[in-house]
Amino acid sequence: MLRFAITLLAVITSSTCKQYGCLEGDTQKPKPSPEPNLQECTLYSKSSCCYADFTEQLAHSPVIKVSNSYWNRCGQLSKSCEDFTKKIECFYRCSPHAARWIHPNDTAAIQGVPLCQSFCDDWYEACKDDSICVRNWLTDWEWDESGKNHCKDKCTPYSEIYANGTDMCQSMWGESFKVSKSSCLCLQMNKKDSIAIKYLLSKSSEESSSSSSSSSSSEEHACQNKLLKFGKLKREEGEQTR
Ligand SMILES: *[C@@H]1O[C@H](CO)[C@@H](O)[C@H](O)[C@H]1NC(C)=O
Ligand SMILES: *[C@@H]1O[C@H](CO)[C@@H](O)[C@H](O)[C@H]1NC(C)=O
Repeated sequence: MLRFAITLLAVITSSTCKQYGCLEGDTQKPKPSPEPNLQECTLYSKSSCCYADFTEQLAHSPVIKVSNSYWNRCGQLSKSCEDFTKKIECFYRCSPHAARWIHPNDTAAIQGVPLCQSFCDDWYEACKDDSICVRNWLTDWEWDESGKNHCKDKCTPYSEIYANGTDMCQSMWGESFKVSKSSCLCLQMNKKDSIAIKYLLSKSSEESSSSSSSSSSSEEHACQNKLLKFGKLKREEGEQTR
């Protein structure tokens, strides 16, 4: 009984007390805190690494620029493509969990955040007819002296720059994202992320890499069950999850 209590305590401690701060980018707070007045990125209102002010520039479509980075260098993005681009921007700037995947050599950057295959495929579908002049959004621009981005190469449809959703997710933001083999232990930038995050965080306390077989398949199972229940609950509430 005592051993059980201690184990339980250890589990609770490692899963809830493990606090990450925020990424150290140019807009992030030192630590996440509630932001009831976010205009965009409201997925992160309860605990946010961005200030409400920051989200103002994302709140009006078309989005022209975010910080110094112009989104319209190859013309305005379609609404559907813009919506996906916003989800990524919101995650990077506002998610209190982003720092869980902090890049070892760059505290402003993330590495290997697991995205769901379906999210990447939908994102690709949304953007494939839009144009872009970089393959890697982080490195392929020419930056002028005031820090603004300019195209070096010609504008080309996403569908010619990236082979598919996987290629896009794993190239557009450098090493920031990878496509997960799991359909549950992955992020899709909606409310379901809270389930995935729970298992992804508890997983990280035991193992460093992503592919140990037995424990990760039980995590997978538990996650899938939880997701199923979440779906049912939402249907009963008659509420949209996206
Ligand atoms: C971090 O920097 C070291 C030393 O320059 C390098 O060997 C390593 O590959 C870098 N890690 C990543 C993930 O880029
Ligand atoms: C996506 O594109 C990559 C790179 O060209 C390729 O290796 C992979 O097989 C493609 N995946 C699918 C599902 O078509």
